Amino acid sequence: MDSSKFLILGVNGQLGRALSVLYPQAQKTDIDELDITSFQSVNNYNWDNITTILNAAAYTNVDGAETEEGQASAWAVNDKAVASLADIAKVKNLLLVHISTEYVFDGTKGPHKEDEPPSPLGVYAKTKTAGDKAAAKAPKHYIVRTSWVIGDGKNFARTMLELGKQGVAPTVVADQIGRPTFTTELAKAIKFLIDKKAPYGTYNVTNEGEPVSWADFTRAIFKEAGLDLNVTDTTTEKYFAAKPGVAPRPLNSVLDLSKIESAGFSPRDWREDLKDYIRKELKK
Ligand SMILES: NC(=O)c1ccc[n+]([C@@H]2O[C@H](COP(=O)([O-])OP(=O)(O)OC[C@H]3O[C@@H](n4cnc5c(N)ncnc54)[C@H](OP(=O)(O)O)[C@@H]3O)[C@@H](O)[C@H]2O)c1
Repeated sequence: MDSSKFLILGVNGQLGRALSVLYPQAQKTDIDELDITSFQSVNNYNWDNITTILNAAAYTNVDGAETEEGQASAWAVNDKAVASLADIAKVKNLLLVHISTEYVFDGTKGPHKEDEPPSPLGVYAKTKTAGDKAAAKAPKHYIVRTSWVIGDGKNFARTMLELGKQGVAPTVVADQIGRPTFTTELAKAIKFLIDKKAPYGTYNVTNEGEPVSWADFTRAIFKEAGLDLNVTDTTTEKYFAAKPGVAPRPLNSVLDLSKIESAGFSPRDWREDLKDYIRKELKK
């Protein structure tokens, strides 16, 4: 597979950076060079030299999407832009790799299988659900559904580590459970699907390991970082009451991994990746 014909969109984001490490030869853009919401820019792009679109671009500000301005941007990036990428992929016979989220589910059930009907709660969730439908119109597509993404960028682990280094003992939600997904592992899974020429469709990809609550995940982060700080549990209900305007979140974010595992990819335990991640973050 000639990765110089791969195009990474959203290369400055968390997943974009990990894909760029895995595919150093790939062509790379972000919003400053190719704004995927500009129909004209997407159409005018030179697709002749591309075989594969890796769409790591997205509007990911879950709470921001609940505002009027955020809502418009979220629909434009997460739905309309994906529809034009799927059109291009169809016309030019390209593979479209698109990233979905467990937010497409309301989280009343779980672990979520790939074929569970969507039940999105907030605006971001609804835009991503529509984007999945749009991406699926590309005849050659992988929709990689993931959760709790952690890489080089703004994410929960980095925020907690920063708070911990400042000596803040946080209060954290203990009734939302999921599995973290380190971008190194997510990028590897994408490469696996492409290299293996796995059947097109939707695949859940997160790290493996025991599902965890945000509060226990914070404890694991502090333990790895050698920070002796107390973490106080709270509930989603109390958290929402204290922060009006935040988007609703699924309580159960756990994705069933049997499809990707039976395809032959075994994700690492999140605790192993957390060790490596904290070690690197502490060196910065
Ligand atoms: N983060 C999570 O916890 C999580 C969980 C589940 C699924 N996901 C999904 O995983 C994927 C990757 O997430 P991530 O955390 O890597 O996202 P991220 O760090 O927010 O990166 C997204 C990138 O897309 C760029 N972008 C935004 N609008 C664009 C546009 N119009 N044209 C081109 N580029 C644009 C962003 O640029 P700016 O920064 O300048 O806006 C940013 O560089 C997304 O599809 C997301 O929905 C994420």
